[in-house]
This record gives sequence, structure tokens and C-alpha cells, in this order.
Amino acid sequence: MTTSDKPKSLKKALESRQMATRSPDEYRHLVRTHYDGPAGALTAVSGFLTGHESLAGRLINPGAFDVSKCTSMLDAGCGNGRYSVLMRKHAPAGSRIVAFDLSMNMLARARSRMGTDRNAFAAADVTRLPFVDGAFDAAVCGWVLEHLPDPRPSLREFRRVLQSGGKFLLLCTEDTWTGAWCSRLWHCRTYNRGELRRYAEECGFAWTREHYFSGFHRALRLGGIIVELSRI
Ligand SMILES: C[S@@+](CC[C@H](N)C(=O)[O-])C[C@H]1O[C@@H](n2cnc3c(N)ncnc32)[C@H](O)[C@@H]1O
Repeated sequence: MTTSDKPKSLKKALESRQMATRSPDEYRHLVRTHYDGPAGALTAVSGFLTGHESLAGRLINPGAFDVSKCTSMLDAGCGNGRYSVLMRKHAPAGSRIVAFDLSMNMLARARSRMGTDRNAFAAADVTRLPFVDGAFDAAVCGWVLEHLPDPRPSLREFRRVLQSGGKFLLLCTEDTWTGAWCSRLWHCRTYNRGELRRYAEECGFAWTREHYFSGFHRALRLGGIIVELSRI
């Protein structure tokens, strides 16, 4: 092992092994149970403590991921509805947001936060979307694809349900030291930025614009991979 390999290996060693040591079905069950339980209930608190709750507003607004002209939006793996709330705030009146999650309890949390005005909720898996082709002109998928061993089946589904030119905000845990800790806490994997870009392009997306929560996050490479993709 060379000196430069060492930190990388330590980081990898810190990452969760839950996905690697289970069958896909067992792992999906673990994820659902995890978010159905206290960890899911605590996402509101952890979002507040990590600042994600307030920083999310810097991502979805007309100067960043702009949904001000979108009429049909998808919030994939919606959790407690953080990104749906922001899309609803900036989208035109009369637009529609569909939020889905694997965890019924997370869906209930999103529903109680958002109500049903302009929103619909569904239980679904990111690898099998129960929507017709071209149903949406925008989608957000925040911190979900790190729960998949291979993101490509899901990326292909997003491409299918988005209209040509549709915009897609993808947020994923990065293979940094903070990402490795997140992986431990949330039983997920991490992505290398170049690797995720190759997957996205292979599945029919253009890697349009990278976002950071702030200049501080950009300088220290914190906050994960946040990228706007465009459906080709
Ligand atoms: C870290 S939370 C993020 C929630 C929300 N997107 C946010 O950023 O606040 C991850 C969410 O993804 C959901 N999830 C995990 N695997 C999923 C899958 N295969 N299909 C759909 N949702 C999934 C979990 O139930 C959980 O609510």
C-alpha cells in the first residue's frame, strides 16, 4: 500500500458495510425499517443540526435549481418533504408535486408537513417508478441513490419519467471523510464524483451544473455531490 492509498483505504474502512453484506432485498428491508423507525423521525432534528434544513433553500430557488416555470415535479425519496416544500414555494400556482418514498412512515411525515394541497404521495422504489413516460418536467432526488449498489436502473427510470430537457437535481453522499461518517450513520454507500458523472451520462443525462450549499462548502468540499442534470 502506498502512502497516498492509505487515507483512501481508511476512509473506505469507515464506510458502512451493510449494503455489501446483505442481499438486495435484505438491504432494502433494512433501509425501510431504519427510516420507518426513530432514525427517520430524527431526520427533522438532524437536518436542523447539520444545517441541511435551512441550506436546502439555497439550492431550490430561481438563482439555482429553478422550478419557477415547472408544472409537474417529482420528489423522489422525499423523506419528511424538505425539498417538496421548497419546490411548492417557487413553482407556479396550479403546478403539481408528486412525492414518493420507500418508507411509509417517512411518507406520513411528509404528508403531515405539507398537507395535500397541490401534492400527491406514493409509496414507491426509485428503481421502479409507477409513473408514465414523460410525466414530469423536473425532479429532485436527495440523498437516496446512496442506498443503491448500482444507481443506473434508477437513473434510467428518472430519464424515462422526465420530459426531454427536463431538469433533475441529484444530491448524493460523496466519498469524502464526512461522507464516510454519513455512510456509517445512514447505512449507505458513497459516490465518487467522476463515477457518478459517468453513470449519469451513460443513462442519458447531461451534467449541467454543480451546486454547493455555500462558498465554505465548496472550498472544503463539504455537503456532498449536488448536481443539476438535464434529460437529453
Ligand atoms: C436521507 S433521507 C433523504 C430524504 C429527503 N430526500 C431529504 O433530502 O430530506 C433518504 C430517504 O430515501 C428513502 N429511500 C431509501 N431507499 C429508497 C428507495 N430504494 N426508493 C425510495 N426511497 C428510498 C428513505 O426512506 C428516506 O426517506
